[in-house]
Amino acid sequence: MSHAINDEALDTIFRNARTYRHWQDKPVSNAILMAIYDLIRWAPTAGNISPARIVFVVSKEAKERLKPHLDEFNVTKTMTAAATAILATDLDFPRYLPKLNPRLNPNEFDDADSRKTTAFRSATLQGAYFIIAARALGLDCGPMSGFNNEGVDREFFAGTQVKSNFLCNLGYGDPAHLRPRAERLSFDEACRIE
Ligand SMILES: Cc1cc2nc3c(=O)[nH]c(=O)nc-3n(C[C@H](O)[C@H](O)[C@H](O)COP(=O)(O)O)c2cc1C
Repeated sequence: MSHAINDEALDTIFRNARTYRHWQDKPVSNAILMAIYDLIRWAPTAGNISPARIVFVVSKEAKERLKPHLDEFNVTKTMTAAATAILATDLDFPRYLPKLNPRLNPNEFDDADSRKTTAFRSATLQGAYFIIAARALGLDCGPMSGFNNEGVDREFFAGTQVKSNFLCNLGYGDPAHLRPRAERLSFDEACRIE
């Protein structure tokens, strides 16, 4: 039976979790990067298509390949993060349908526009699951859209139909540099119950 997780866990994932741009000099293990994926693969996607693909950029060499494609204001925070995940979308996701959902006919996704919309929606959800999982495992995150998608795709996904969506720096954040937290919309501003 499901039960609510405790307040401390909710603080870790949501209320006290911040976007980090400065990092402690502390590595993240491959085991924890793998643990993130081991959680998010269970979270829902449309028809279980699971279109997210993730490259964890960890080595100095790989970071240097990423660097020229970053917007200037994202360079230092990315180069100093222990890892940077490239959250991407595989437009060729139907090839895995025999494993993921044998009841779905891959021909349903023949139309390129609807395939792209479907893939982008679920892969973006998986990106959000990614942030939540990383925080749940004790990491700090710094998501970023300030980079050149085409350049990253050429460098990391050449010859595939995988397209970058956003980047997420990972590591142990340095809270000394946090900006004051910005307001959020109230329930009434953002929601209604009908
Ligand atoms: C999709 C996305 C793209 C973002 N792009 C950038 C970026 O390029 N550079 C940056 O410094 N922060 C970026 N941010 C960080 C947001 O500005 C930040 O998460 C938001 O203001 C909330 O901050 P808080 O988590 O500290 O409350 C991005 C966040 C998201 C979710």
